[in-house]
Amino acid sequence: MLLQKDEESNAYDPQKSPFIILLGLVGGVRLAKAVHVAVQLGIPDLVDTTPISAKELAELTGSHERSLYRLLRAIASIGIFKEVEPTQFVATELSLYLRKDYPNTVRYMVMMMFTDSDWEAWERLDYSVRTGHSAFEHVHGTDSWTYLTSHPEEYEIFNRAMTSISDTTNASIINAYDFSTIHTLADIGGGHGKVLATILQAHPSMQGILFDLAPVADTARDVIAEAGLEERCQVIGGSFFDEIPTGADAYLLKHVLHDWDDAACKKILDACHSAMPAGTKLLIAEQVLPLTDIPVSVASTDLSMLVGPGGCERTEQEYHTLLEASGFKIIKVHPTHALHCVVEAVAVA
Ligand SMILES: C[S@@+](CC[C@H](N)C(=O)[O-])C[C@H]1O[C@@H](n2cnc3c(N)ncnc32)[C@H](O)[C@@H]1O
Repeated sequence: MLLQKDEESNAYDPQKSPFIILLGLVGGVRLAKAVHVAVQLGIPDLVDTTPISAKELAELTGSHERSLYRLLRAIASIGIFKEVEPTQFVATELSLYLRKDYPNTVRYMVMMMFTDSDWEAWERLDYSVRTGHSAFEHVHGTDSWTYLTSHPEEYEIFNRAMTSISDTTNASIINAYDFSTIHTLADIGGGHGKVLATILQAHPSMQGILFDLAPVADTARDVIAEAGLEERCQVIGGSFFDEIPTGADAYLLKHVLHDWDDAACKKILDACHSAMPAGTKLLIAEQVLPLTDIPVSVASTDLSMLVGPGGCERTEQEYHTLLEASGFKIIKVHPTHALHCVVEAVAVA
């Protein structure tokens, strides 16, 4: 083992050796699974600022006390909970973000990443790397959207995960792009409708059209109604490979194109173009890749797109190429204070 010298004490610090660092990084997948189990048991919702013992948590969750303790101290080692006295735990900032009702909770992303179907696909990352095709489709014999449509519990977790990402990105989109000149905004593949609801609430005279697959649209109707927007927002179920609703002066595709390869994106964009008279705005909210030094979270999403739906994150040049092929011209790429951009394009004849 290569040991690194601690510069100040001149002693060897095994924690800084490449061997230990690599073991920690690669073994992190096991700690991630431990976080998932804590989430499954609902532990983040039970741990607060008053110390609670592993024994009490085991009783509350029907777990084996000693094993649960070992799980808790393992994830405390990465900052989720703090062991203030032996076997006594309190919440930390990170553990709060795993609670059910915490604003911007990461709980549903954790649950989504560890659904059996997703995990089984990740085990075949090698297949995707060898072939360039979705491991999910290879393992499950169907594409991820068809699979999710016939597994409503997993689709619900997926949609909640998407909504939680939207919660963190909505404000940045609204700050980065001026929606005030839009009369009717159609959100295509709009999921549960949180993004559209936020934009409509910020612009009281704007009308909305939310479009997604029928089962998702059914849930979105409730979200739109709860936001008090049913008078101003139509919710339409359907596929963007068939036909896209007409009648809007701007269309939004947020975190949609990255799910698909270039050929499928062309079909979606062609369908959009058919619904859009020349001059209609197309807004694409996606992470736009820098040419080098990709941030770790974007790199991870990019691989998830490869393994799952078979899509990818793209550079600005790749968006230019994709959009031009379907009759759109990029006017401006608006950066946001989050990781994604709003790519503003217009339909040309
Ligand atoms: C990654 S999610 C993004 C959801 C939402 N735009 C957001 O940013 O929170 C992709 C969305 O595309 C929808 N979708 C997938 N295939 C579709 C299709 N053929 N037609 C319409 N929507 C589809 C999914 O149901 C899902 O809501």
